[in-house]
Amino acid sequence: MKIGTYTLPNRLFVAPMAGVTDRPFRVLCRQLGAGHAVSEMVTSQRHLWASLKTSRRADHTGEPGPIAVQIAGVDPVEMAEAAQYNIDRGAQIIDINMGCPAKKVCNTWAGSALMQNEGLAIDIVEAVVAACAPRNVPVTLKMRTGWCAAQRNAPVLARAAESAGIAMLTVHGRTREQGYGGQAEYDTIADIKSVLRIPVVANGDIDTPEKARDVLKATGADALMIGRAAQGRPWIFREIAHFLATGEHLPPPATREVRGWLLAHLHDHYGLYGEGVGVRTARKHIGWAVRALPGGEAFRAAMNTLESADAQVRAVATFFDTLAEAHPLLPAANDARARLSA
Ligand SMILES: Cc1cc2nc3c(=O)[nH]c(=O)nc-3n(C[C@H](O)[C@H](O)[C@H](O)COP(=O)(O)O)c2cc1C
Repeated sequence: MKIGTYTLPNRLFVAPMAGVTDRPFRVLCRQLGAGHAVSEMVTSQRHLWASLKTSRRADHTGEPGPIAVQIAGVDPVEMAEAAQYNIDRGAQIIDINMGCPAKKVCNTWAGSALMQNEGLAIDIVEAVVAACAPRNVPVTLKMRTGWCAAQRNAPVLARAAESAGIAMLTVHGRTREQGYGGQAEYDTIADIKSVLRIPVVANGDIDTPEKARDVLKATGADALMIGRAAQGRPWIFREIAHFLATGEHLPPPATREVRGWLLAHLHDHYGLYGEGVGVRTARKHIGWAVRALPGGEAFRAAMNTLESADAQVRAVATFFDTLAEAHPLLPAANDARARLSA
């Protein structure tokens, strides 16, 4: 699987998720089998680039390549400048966001709202491609199936974006109107795949190895992108990779192994955010990791009251030590579907 000149190790990608797929989490996902990782979106609005939030999002220290940065905006010139700014800071692939349903994005930025305005959407793609081409940086695009059920225009937009020079397209199988509700539909992704020459990535509700196999079959996609199912369970990438390669399931990871991954993730997380913010923002990652485990909910409630990195790390270590005594292998999640919440 290639994006431009970059050959990726596999066709399982971690989805960009604002507030989740920061650099520490992307590094962890890659370590556990993700073949590609796209940053959380970075605004095209220049006056925000110096903000702490945006500069953290543009931090790629120690991240294995190719480094892909997602940009969001509504103005072609600003988007081209944002691409150049991020290339100067290490981006090797630029991804354009036309998939995010968040109000903040649709009103003041862009996201899936751009799909309503095909002319502007393609102007943006052309401007970003023109800015990236001289630097040899491929441009990828992420979109939904359309704005609403009556306007499922992804196939038309996808063809125009391919002609405008994008190197890969990811499609989340929902309209903007659907938010994260209902079931992702894969027929539109299959339609798009059948008319494009560039690689197409299918996204939406992939949460088990079987589902990954089925979505590949239903869409004919070249790769899969996984978002919410990787929250608290980043080893899902290697589980899916193993199943696709062999038709067999990997045994669950050793509980002590999961302990090690989570502690290393926390360490990296505090390093990026500092202790104060780091402890607070780490709670969601810890919560996702423990919520389907025996005693996980009670632990989560207690852990959320801890204010220091030291106390948080000790609590996590003790929780997994105790769990490992009864369960050397990580016990199965209660209900994988319940884990997919936006
Ligand atoms: C918390 C959260 C944040 C997200 N942020 C972004 C984003 O910054 N850019 C983007 O293109 N999509 C974003 N998405 C959408 C995901 O990339 C993905 O398309 C969606 O979650 C469907 O995939 P899944 O069913 O595997 O989770 C976000 C999703 C979630 C749940």
